[in-house]
Amino acid sequence: MATSCYQWFLWTATILLIAVVSQGQLTTDFYDSTCPQAATIVKQKVDEIVDADKGMAAGLMRLHFHDCFVRGCDGSVLLNSTNTTLAEKEALINNGSLRGFEHIDDIKMDLECSCPGVVSCADILAMVARDATVKLGGLSWPVFLGRIDGASSVADEVNSSLPFRTYNFSQLVATFAKVGLDTKDMIVLSGGHSIGQLHCGAFFERLWDFQGQNITDPSMDPEFAESLKAQCPRDNPLLFKGADSTNATFDAVYYSDLLTHKGLMDSDVALMSDPLGVEYAIKAVQDPYYFLFEFGMAMINMGNIPASDPYGWRKNCAVIEPCNN
Ligand code: HEM
Repeated sequence: MATSCYQWFLWTATILLIAVVSQGQLTTDFYDSTCPQAATIVKQKVDEIVDADKGMAAGLMRLHFHDCFVRGCDGSVLLNSTNTTLAEKEALINNGSLRGFEHIDDIKMDLECSCPGVVSCADILAMVARDATVKLGGLSWPVFLGRIDGASSVADEVNSSLPFRTYNFSQLVATFAKVGLDTKDMIVLSGGHSIGQLHCGAFFERLWDFQGQNITDPSMDPEFAESLKAQCPRDNPLLFKGADSTNATFDAVYYSDLLTHKGLMDSDVALMSDPLGVEYAIKAVQDPYYFLFEFGMAMINMGNIPASDPYGWRKNCAVIEPCNN
């Protein structure tokens, strides 16, 4: 189906969504009177950042996911540890893996110069995620705004909130359900792995020690497994591998990789263990725009996960420094 047709769908869906989502108090025009240039500032900065480092688009998009799954979309992933509390960014899943914090700080500074005390850190993450995805070829989606930042960030909460790379299909479904997202959202959002990089260690067992037997997962395409072994030698789990075979472009190739047994992590391959995952992957491959459009819709759903403990607005996204002037 032509792009323009999807854009038509997008706008129709947008109108419906405005009616639904605005009940949750997020709206697309939230900053129209207080900071009308907010979206433009964010987009310009993201364009600059990704022009300088294409890979960073993935890191920026992932921040929104890791933010929203822990305490809702409240910018808590951006907070530094305090004297008494280890922050989310120090949790094992995040530390040394999440990237782009410095760029969010930079964008926040620009926004504070233009409209002090207005734009929340959580909203910046939502806008950045969309702009980073679009920059690598994704379809745009309307970003709903008006999130309130939290004041706490607790490393211990990360493990019980985010999905693990070793999860099977039902564990993934359950983790997404805990934040109000359904199975379809989970399958579509997993397509976030269309861009970016994974440490070789993220799929070490599948490659080198499947079920503790010192073998490669027999379900992996044998030729693919051999080339993967060359890129990810046994003794170096800290090397990187592209998340899919076209990891600099946001596209549906993630799903064709899965269908051809070239998936990487257990959690990716798990999608092929359920008829819904297989059915979706086939649709996405047959009609890539279908996936690009649905990814935007699923990101709207994810961005709508409410903050469990909203606090206020932060001048600096990394520290609690309440300020109402
Ligand atoms: C479905 C459950 C998911 C699991 C288990 C999972 C797990 C992971 C892991 C383990 C990595 C690699 C970390 C590393 O090696 O340093 C990763 C990378 C990534 N994930 Fe996920 N993820 C999931 C869902 C998502 C979702 C929903 C998104 C976005 C919508 C996303 C976006 C990304 C991106 C873009 C990267 C690459 C980051 C970069 O290049 O810096 N993931 N994920």
